[in-house]
Amino acid sequence: MEEEILQLLREDPSGFISGEEIGRRLKVSRTAVWKRMTHLRSLGYEVEASTRSGYRLIQSPDLLTPAEVKPFLKTKWMGKKIHYFPSLDSTNSKAYELATRGAEEGEVVIAESQEKGRGRLGRNWFSPPSLNLYLSVILRPKIPPHQAPLITLMAAVATAGAIEKCSGLRPLIKWPNDILLRGGKVAGLLNEIQSETDRIHFVILGIGVNLNLDEKAFPKEIRSVATSMKQEMGQAISRKEFLSSLLQQLEEWYAIYLKEGGDVILNAWREQARIKGKPVKVTSFGETISGIAVDIDSDGALILRMENGKRKRVVAGDVEYSRR
Ligand code: BTN
Repeated sequence: MEEEILQLLREDPSGFISGEEIGRRLKVSRTAVWKRMTHLRSLGYEVEASTRSGYRLIQSPDLLTPAEVKPFLKTKWMGKKIHYFPSLDSTNSKAYELATRGAEEGEVVIAESQEKGRGRLGRNWFSPPSLNLYLSVILRPKIPPHQAPLITLMAAVATAGAIEKCSGLRPLIKWPNDILLRGGKVAGLLNEIQSETDRIHFVILGIGVNLNLDEKAFPKEIRSVATSMKQEMGQAISRKEFLSSLLQQLEEWYAIYLKEGGDVILNAWREQARIKGKPVKVTSFGETISGIAVDIDSDGALILRMENGKRKRVVAGDVEYSRR
């Protein structure tokens, strides 16, 4: 009911609406309205109450609850159902569980903080409350499992697109799917898939974006390699607007992929990664390989030309751009 009350309070942002009127519109008692207002205040909403005129919304908290996010959403279907949690172990784990129980394509999981945010290669993802975005999107593409890497590339392209739109800065995709702003990692993707031999059941797109974190708030170990949108833009960013832009980009790029196929995605990825011809060092399964980046293939693997002229295909690991 809170969502409907907020909608009524927002209908005329400058005016008051009486408790009686709210009760009449929502078919509940004035006492029930009053109780909900108390609850909204406990969530951080500033609601003015006047015995004569009723209630007026003064300020909303910066939360990613469905009630706060929905007025900003511009998507047709993605994110129409939001599973919101103040805190979770990991949004990916929750989305996986929901998808296993039949959650539909486009449902999303958002948490204000994660206790066990998961990164690539078994790492943790730093997930403090209320400043960043921790999002998992459930997709059910009708494609064979071997094409799943293209969904990951698609998500990286969409995330980079949202970052560019909201910051005005040009991000760089770093293989496999880190997003950098001015050399610092601003976002990471961890995508998980459940499939059988010839059919994908679902894909979970797990996306973490550092939005309003200050440099000092990062743990020392990652301070030199991580950054946030706020740090690079010099001003805080609206998390709701960013989320809305990200879901819109994801919806658009997913539609492009389904309609036009993987080549468009690969080309967009190549354009945003600008990796071709760069000397790189790749650490993969404990081994460090140096070479020149030639391309990525449709499995998302990185193709290197090594010093001896031979080509090598790397499927997982971390890239460092070496200076020459
Ligand atoms: C990386 O290591 O670069 C990937 C980081 C992915 C983090 C996101 S935050 C939302 C989702 N839930 C998780 O537990 N991980 C992903």
